[in-house]
Order: sequence, then C-alpha cells, then structure tokens
Amino acid sequence: MPPRKIIIDTDPGQDDAVAILLALASPQEIEVLGITAVAGNVPLALTQKNARIVCELAGAPQTPVYAGCEAPLRRPLVTAEHVHGKTGLDGPVLPDPKMPLAPGHAVDFIIDTLRAEPAGTVTLCPLGPLTNIATALAKAPDIAPRIREIVLMGGAYFQVGNITPTAEFNIYVDPHAAAAVFASGAPITVMPLDVTHKALVTAPRVEAFRALGTHPGRMVAEWTDFFERFDKEKYGSPGAPLHDPCVIAYLIRPELFSGRFINVEIETTSELTMGMTVADWWGVTDRPANATFMGDLDADGFFALLTERIARL
Ligand code: RIB
Ligand code: CA
Repeated sequence: MPPRKIIIDTDPGQDDAVAILLALASPQEIEVLGITAVAGNVPLALTQKNARIVCELAGAPQTPVYAGCEAPLRRPLVTAEHVHGKTGLDGPVLPDPKMPLAPGHAVDFIIDTLRAEPAGTVTLCPLGPLTNIATALAKAPDIAPRIREIVLMGGAYFQVGNITPTAEFNIYVDPHAAAAVFASGAPITVMPLDVTHKALVTAPRVEAFRALGTHPGRMVAEWTDFFERFDKEKYGSPGAPLHDPCVIAYLIRPELFSGRFINVEIETTSELTMGMTVADWWGVTDRPANATFMGDLDADGFFALLTERIARL
C-alpha cells in the first residue's frame, strides 16, 4: 500500500508539533506533501516559524512549509498564548529554524497540489482554524471533489467548549471558514474535544516520552509539561489533551477511533454560541449527514503508537 499523501494545515502549538512529528516519523503510511501554516494559537509569523522548527527537529528540513492566512475570514484573530505561551512552543528552548519558508502562499500550494495530484489522492489535515482551507475552496471551487478526505481537529459535542462555554478554539477563531468547509461536500472526519479530551498525557505517558532518551522524546515531554497546566487547572484532568496528534494517528490506525456519520452545522450568527459545532449526534433532525464525528478512542493504543513512532526520530 503506498503511503497516504497529506497536507498538514497547522498553527503550532505544542500539540500541533507532536502531530507533525508523528506524521514525519511514519513515512511508510504517510507522505507529507507540505505543511501550511495558519494564524491561530499564535500569529502567523510564529506558526510558520514553529512549523519549520518542528520539521528540523524531525530531521526533515526538506519538507516544504508555506505561510498562509494571517487572520480569519471575517472576525478578528483570537490567539491562545494563555495555553501555548508567547512563542506558541513554550517549554523547551529551541533554536530558530535554518530551513527557509517555501515561496508562495499556502492557499495556492493547497490549490496547485490538489489540481496536480490525481483526484481523490490527497488528504487535508487541518489542525488549527480552517481559514486556509476555506480560502482555497472559495478561490478554486473545482478542488472540492478532488479532496480524498479532510481529517480535522476541531469542534465538540459532549465536551461543548474550551475557549467559550459552547465553542472549541479552532472552530471559534474562524467559524465562517468552518461553515464553508463543512458545506463543501468533501468527505470530512472530525476529531472533536469529545475524543481529544480522552487522549491525556498522564505522568507515566510523559515519562515514557522522556525515557526514550532522544532529543525529540525530551522535547515532547517538555512541551506537554508546559502545555498541560491550562487543562489541569480548568478541567482538573491528569494531563494535557493531545488534540492534534489524534488526526495523524487516525490516518495510521483508524481502528483506534470510533464515531458516527452525522450532520454537523456551525453557529455563525449568535455571539452567545459563536463557533459551536451543532452535532446531531442523536439523529433528531433530518439534516443530511456531512461528517464522521469521532466520539471515542483507545487511549492506550494511541499512546503506544505515538511513543513508538517518536522513538524512531
Ligand atoms: O482546541 C484545541 C485546538 O486548538 C488544538 O488544535 C490546539 O492546537 C489549538 O489549535
Ligand atoms: Ca492546533
């Protein structure tokens, strides 16, 4: 089976960084065609730099990294330094990247790649706000049917919200982009907080990363040491939820996850519930299903995969 071709769209972010490491550590299953940075956890100038830092940490400086949209489609940018720190990768100190940014805009890379690769062979993996993806779809509507699948981290149903009482951060930052993506007709698989809040980096799991004795292993441990304080304080959880690596783990071992094919709509008018993913989990409407919405994962299997792959770097 040839490796699956993907584009990772990301706002690193410690959890994005672990997701990128997992993808680059799995060349038998995944071919990373490129990484597109978007404003989200921190502004674009930092997300595009952080993406390159992570590629170098993975020993993959040849990976093309593109800068994308620096603000949501309509709303002002909301960032999350309170979770990820000022740099977006707080925890360990890492050197500035030597690898250059790839020339051109991320949106054009997404469009050009989907047009150049055979239809139905490229998977988009958004790990941040959906601004780049929605902008590409608006600029080139012909790419929608060419997308094999969009596997994204975002939204929530039972977990409701982490940035407001009703919205998850990635969707909240650019709800109009999210609405456009969920209406695009492309096959969508969603990793919501309902799943990622079960992927907690407990103390034994952090120690397993540290015990690898490798630089990437130590970085992952130090990122989670930093990143966990927000969720521990807010939810009293025994560790940081590794949100974004769930997207990549699904591509490698989909059987670790379970969910339902349901209708998901995005709130884009009420300020009270702006960015809410209104997921018809119980099938109480006749709205057509448009996404596979994950609800559970095998957490031990997920961490076994993640630790084994990080050990390869
Ligand atoms: O709500 C969690 C999501 O928001 C993750 O992708 C995290 O990196 C932030 O982007
Ligand atoms: Ca992210």
